[in-house]
Amino acid sequence: PGRLPAPSPSLSPSPGGYAASDFGGAASDFEEPYIRLGGLADYVEGILRCRRIVFIACGTSFHACLAARATLEEFAAMPVVVELAGDFMDREAPVFRDDTCVFVSQSGETADTLRALEYAKNKGALCVGITNTVGSAISNATHCGVHLNCGYEIGVASTKAYTSQIVALTMVALLLGADRRSMTAKRLDHVRALAALPDAVRGALALDADMRELAAQLKDASDLLFFGRGYNYSTALEAALKAGGRGGGGRRLGGRVKEVALIHSEGINAGEMKHGPLALVDENLPIIVIATMDAMHRKMESVIQQLLARSARLIILCNQARRAGGRGDVPCGGFGAGLWFRAPRLEAPGDVAMDAFAARGCSLIRVPRTVDALQPVVNVVPLQLLSYHLTTLRGFNVDQPRNLAKSVTVT
Ligand code: F6R
Repeated sequence: PGRLPAPSPSLSPSPGGYAASDFGGAASDFEEPYIRLGGLADYVEGILRCRRIVFIACGTSFHACLAARATLEEFAAMPVVVELAGDFMDREAPVFRDDTCVFVSQSGETADTLRALEYAKNKGALCVGITNTVGSAISNATHCGVHLNCGYEIGVASTKAYTSQIVALTMVALLLGADRRSMTAKRLDHVRALAALPDAVRGALALDADMRELAAQLKDASDLLFFGRGYNYSTALEAALKAGGRGGGGRRLGGRVKEVALIHSEGINAGEMKHGPLALVDENLPIIVIATMDAMHRKMESVIQQLLARSARLIILCNQARRAGGRGDVPCGGFGAGLWFRAPRLEAPGDVAMDAFAARGCSLIRVPRTVDALQPVVNVVPLQLLSYHLTTLRGFNVDQPRNLAKSVTVT
């Protein structure tokens, strides 16, 4: 108990930030359970000596931090706190010299995040940047960090930066847990899953036509709910942000609530369902439930049962079925009647449950399986596609939502 010593002088900030090349050194041998991140290499010990890690971000970047929080807690075995930069500064939340504060920002220029960075630096915390923009204000002002290197984002809505942020944060978690022998097998699983991730994302992108069909069914809905839990609470929040656009002040047009380009939507933690949101449920409100085969799967099955008991109109995002016969995961259908591929024998109880839900009228979005920590990367892809198609079908500009700029440089 008590305060740990502040980072030693050798790990203290060097003036002027860090060289851009420090960011680019992410590498991993996929048969070794180790990760290298050049821009963090000299700071790992200092981070591990800290009392806690505080992630600070806005919008989609905040959601990426939420998605990776459990992975960071598990591998680093440290308390991890995730803060909205604006709220953090409204409270002038306590920051200590033995904190590590990580600032996650696609643009590296977001004013609230930058303000929180100056504040944390003044309090003597070790400040780490995770950005996609070399030479940005945040990358210059932090002591060390990681560049996403996912390429220039053209559209206002952050998409590939979101998935890349989750990947980068997962790599940070693996790096921080590198000396924990008890985690070696799990680390190797995650490194292999990182290597296989492009195929899984390709599998999710293949759902494009299905998502267009679903968007055509949903485009006149006035509201849309997304339910997720655990790793995928962030997926629900992010899908709702994309479907609804960001920024407040939805306005009524032709009887529909529209925010920015799209539909009023909410991301809800399924664990909170009985504490209020259940009252909204009826046969008209479309609800997308994220129920991939992770640690929360059983709980999500029970959520689905309860929603169906209230005649909810459900779309379930689940994993591709693992059919018997030794062929591993196979794609298994999309939307609409007649698209289901029904194999005679099923291996996993979760597959049986999903087929039963489909038989009760739920539409299924089937995505490839990966480790729990990376499943949000795969899960968000069809939901991003859904938002894209909803936006274009409703006649809006997907690259430039109303009232928004790519980086929010004023508080
Ligand atoms: C949503 C979106 C925003 C940004 C937020 C933070 O699609 O783009 O919510 O994520 O403004 O921006 P960065 O990550 O640049 O700090």
